[in-house]
Amino acid sequence: GKVGVLFGGRSAEREVSLMSGAGVLAALQSQGVDAHGFDTGERSLAELAAEKFDRVFIALHGRFGEDGSLQGALEQLGIPYTGSGVMACSVGMDKVYTKMIWLMHKLPTPQYAVLDDASDLAQVAGQLGLPLIVKPPHEGSSIGITTVHEVSAFQGAYDIAAGLDDSVLAEQFITGREFTVAILGQGATARALPPIEIVAPQGNYDYQNKYFTDVTQYFCPPQLDAAIIAEMERIALAAYRALGCEGWGRVDVLMRNADSALFLLEVNTSPGMTGHSLVPMAARAVGISYEDLCLEIVASARL
Ligand code: DAL
Ligand code: MG
Repeated sequence: GKVGVLFGGRSAEREVSLMSGAGVLAALQSQGVDAHGFDTGERSLAELAAEKFDRVFIALHGRFGEDGSLQGALEQLGIPYTGSGVMACSVGMDKVYTKMIWLMHKLPTPQYAVLDDASDLAQVAGQLGLPLIVKPPHEGSSIGITTVHEVSAFQGAYDIAAGLDDSVLAEQFITGREFTVAILGQGATARALPPIEIVAPQGNYDYQNKYFTDVTQYFCPPQLDAAIIAEMERIALAAYRALGCEGWGRVDVLMRNADSALFLLEVNTSPGMTGHSLVPMAARAVGISYEDLCLEIVASARL
């Protein structure tokens, strides 16, 4: 049938989505799929309905694409779509609600506080300890994230995040190594791909080092004891299932240097599919080409 590749969108990650969408579209077309690109940032839902797609591949990131709102519209239009449903997307787009669900499931995630303009930042810094990480809870690709080493820098970091979001998350900084686990499928049959370790210069895996430089190093599988890899895959799968994620996704994990304890950071229900992105990298490590990955994801589309 006719497949729509939805890309672009209106979030701060639009530029990333343009790259993801171009990659997915070319891959599907190269496999003989009747795939067509559709920029949701430039065209309306009425136009999307008029295209009469049999299914869509959501290659959108961030708000209005990954947050459940588009998924809800597609449900209303009766168009099967890739990835998680409305609820998992909206919870997954919110780093605070995600943590609440994980904590209810006794899954480890760094301690945190939710801030607003009335918050006493010095008190929060005292409670969580320094350094800490300040994040807009509904952004991706590290947009608006600052590491705060001194109380005097906290207000500036808060203002950056508050300029992008209506609340702000402050999270305890975990000194350790950074990993991500790609997951395919849902429920009991969901499976983890091998973790990737991400080694960015000065630990700074920011927007530039995610997409536009070649200085970040990736190790898949990582140099870790098999038991720790198995535990990382186990908690990433549990984290994905706890939110009810479907189709595919990616869970970001830290391993603390002091004691090798693992911490879940966030889930991405519509992960990047760019040339630098991590799900394609993990797939490749187990012999799944980018094209086959796109075919598998599109085959899993449902309402
Ligand atoms: N939010 C970006 C697209 C990712 O997680 O890959
Ligand atoms: Mg993210």
